[in-house]
Order: sequence, then C-alpha cells, then structure tokens
Amino acid sequence: MGTYSAGLEPGQSDKQALSQVFASLSLRCVECAALYPAVEAQPRYRCECGGVLDVETIFQHSSPQEMSLQEGFDALASAESDLMPLAGASWRQLFDERATRPPIWPMGVDSLLLDRSGVWRYRELILPLPPSYIVSRPEGNTSLYPAGIENCSEGCEGHQRIGKFAGIDRLFLKHEGENPSGSFKDRGMTVGVSMARATGARAVACASTGNTSASLASYAAQAGMPCLVFLPAGNVAAGKLAQTLAYGATTIQINGDFDDAMRLVEQVCNELGIYLLNSLNPYRIEGQKAIGLELLQQLDWQAPDWLVLPAGNLGNTSAIGKALLQARQLGLIGYLPRIASIQASGANPFYRSYINGFANREHVQARTIATAIKIGNPVSYTRARRVIEQTNGVVEEVSDEEILAAKTVIDRAGIGCEPASAATLAGMRKLVERGVINRDERVVGILTGHLLKDSATALPRQSQNAVVEANIDAVRKLLHTFL
Ligand code: F0G
Repeated sequence: MGTYSAGLEPGQSDKQALSQVFASLSLRCVECAALYPAVEAQPRYRCECGGVLDVETIFQHSSPQEMSLQEGFDALASAESDLMPLAGASWRQLFDERATRPPIWPMGVDSLLLDRSGVWRYRELILPLPPSYIVSRPEGNTSLYPAGIENCSEGCEGHQRIGKFAGIDRLFLKHEGENPSGSFKDRGMTVGVSMARATGARAVACASTGNTSASLASYAAQAGMPCLVFLPAGNVAAGKLAQTLAYGATTIQINGDFDDAMRLVEQVCNELGIYLLNSLNPYRIEGQKAIGLELLQQLDWQAPDWLVLPAGNLGNTSAIGKALLQARQLGLIGYLPRIASIQASGANPFYRSYINGFANREHVQARTIATAIKIGNPVSYTRARRVIEQTNGVVEEVSDEEILAAKTVIDRAGIGCEPASAATLAGMRKLVERGVINRDERVVGILTGHLLKDSATALPRQSQNAVVEANIDAVRKLLHTFL
C-alpha cells in the first residue's frame, strides 16, 4: 500500500493554509485554563503551572457553500442550539459519503485518499491540516465485531461466548489491534507525526512499553524523521521491540519503569528540541478521538449506552470522551454514552481516586501482567477525570487473574488481543455482576492492541502444543482425544 506523504512537498499556498489552521487553534491548560498559541518556537506540552494542555479549535469551514457545516461548528461553541439536528444530519452525510467513496489511487495526496483513513475522514473535527503535511498509512477502519448473546449472527458461536462471559445481550468489540502497526496508537501518531512535520521538527521521541514506540517508529520512518524511544528495561514485549528497531528507531533502555522513562524523555525533548509524541502531546489526543467517531459511524450514529476501555496513561479515556462529547454537541448522536475505564488492580491510581470521589490524585508503584497499562502516575489524569464526570462514567479495577480469564475467552473466540485489552471484557463482566451495566444495554468494548503483543502471556496448555516423534503412530496416539 502506498503512503500519503510520498514525494509531495508543501507549496506556498499550503504554507499559508497551514498558518490559517494554526491561527484557528489554541492550547488550554486543563488545570488553570491558561491559553497558549497552538505553535510556539519551542513546542509546549505543559502549562507554566505544570498542567497538561488540550487543543481548542475555532471551527471554520473554508467553503461558503457548506453553510450547514459551519452551523455545526457554531453549535459546538454554544451549549444548546436549535441548529443542532440540521448540523448533525449534514455532518453524518459528509462522513458517510467519504466512507463509501471507492478506493482510487492517484499519484499524490488529495482529499479522496484522506477519506480512506479512519482518522482523516473526520479531519474537520480532528485537525484540518493541508493534505501535503499529512503522514498516513492509512490507519483506522478497524472491525466492530458483534459479540453479544443476541447480536451475533448464526454460525458465530465463538463470538457469542464473549457475550455470555460478560452477561451482555448486545455487545460489540472494536478491535484497534487491526491498525497498521498493531494498536490504537496509530490514530494518534498519524496526527502527531503530521504535526511534527508541519512544525518543522527535526526528530521525534516517546517513552513506551511497546505499542507507542512501534507506532511512532513506523510513522517517523514514513516521514523520514529520526526517532528516539525510551523503554523500561526488561518490560517491553520482544516483538514490539523488534518492530520498533526494524522501523529504524534508536532505543534507550532505562533501568526503571514506564513512569521513569516518561519523566526522562520529557526532559530530554525539552532540552534538545525533539518533538515529544507521548499522549502528553495534545495533538495525539485529537487523533485518538477518531476511535469514538468511527465506532459511532459503524453503529449508523446510534450511540451505544456504554463504552468500555482499558485505562493506563488515560489518553484514550480522554480522547474518546472528548469525541463523544463533541459528537453530542454537534448533533451527530442523540445522547451521550457512559464511559467505563478499567484499570488493573495492581496499577489502579485512577480507580483509587474515583472511589474517593476524585478528592485526591493518587500515585502507585504499578504491578500487573498487562504491561500496556502498567502505569502508576497517569499523565492525562485531569482530562480523564472530567470525561468520567461529564459522561456519568465509572472506573473499575480487575485483577490479573480476571484479565487472563477474559483474554482466554477473546482469544478462543478467534478474535484475540493483548492482555491490557482483555481488561475491557473483565471489567464489563464485573460491572454487569455489580448491576452497574444492565444486560440489555448496548455496550461497545475497545480492544486496544494485537494478540501478538505479550504473546507469551496465557500460552496454551502443554497438550495443545505437544512435540512428538516424526512417525504416524506417535501422531495417532496424540490425536486420539482430539475430536
Ligand atoms: N492498551 C494498549 C494496547 C496500550 O498499548 C496502552 C498504552 C493502553 C491500552 C493504555 O492506554 O494510556 O490511553 O490509557 N500503551 C503505552 C505504550 C504505555 O507505551 O505503548 P492509555
């Protein structure tokens, strides 16, 4: 498959368009509400007060014919608007048209190609960069698997077992592990690396337990940019390390945990002017909003009652929450789903804060087999807390045993996921048992990463993977119990 950025350099008019885009954006501190320009000489990831930043957009549609879309943007700025239903219908039509355009492959970048990306299809609500700055594989377009007791089609008993395990009649699983590098991170990285390119960054960097690094390394390679990755030594899945190195990144293994790697990479980026692409970077959050927008589109804009997802650094909780709130404000959907963020009980700072009514921000020394959510001091705490409050959401914790049991069910259904993703199913089962989620509510669970990450976790039983002598008697003897 080709790439969008290949061979196309921004021209003068693109540079002007880019300046206009930057002028329509600003960054707001989620702690003290201070406002900063979208782009400064030195990239800014935090407010002077230390708080993280959120992208604010003055939505504008360039084409005057598309007034109904402009009305939609205006609706975003006002809490309630009579224009909402009209605006919502126009938005749905625009996104649906883009999703159904036949794939064609002209020589360079243009908007038709961007329509094929499950991120840039929603570009007005993500980041309306001129196409020549965009670096895209393309990403997204991940499956939404029916997996409930009632909404599985005939012949899908395997998938239905997932619904039985959770105790949910109408369940869908959105598999973000089907993104090009194997996780949802690609949705944030296409936007983050495009932004790096648009701001003239000379190199990019991140801290990671595997998925972020593989994703960043892939997009950086596509853009031809050097990529630096800080990893917690001994805590990165071998396949993900191999993938990161294969894409050409330089890795530094830190004798410490993810939180140490995160602290160090932020310092190094600020000192050396390298563009930081952890979810601390607010433009990555904008890209990850597309998970929420795409799943709403796949459900024909009929919002589910619940959206359940694993929670580590809390970037995804923040991003999907923001997307749902904006979709509701725009009239894309009729009501707001509730969000359930699931943490591992050994890495549960957000859960601890939640059960105390968010009175304090908690930190923990993280311990869990789910390396992707083994995070004790989540960067996006405040963003995510707001999402839980605004969506009437909940935070739940699940043990490693519960995660492994859920992973086995998802794997045996033929879908498969890495361990952190299985926290989604373990969490929804617990919330059904506790009567928080009703079995007849419509639930979407997010699987965030591919089965081949941490694939040594929950390996099959010995009898399923036996070694025998190379003769038919030995094989027959082994197989006599197979059917
Ligand atoms: N699921 C997967 C598969 C992940 O890779 C991550 C984070 C999460 C969930 C947590 O998401 O931070 O948005 O709450 N992985 C980071 C990494 C740590 O380095 O790849 P969050």
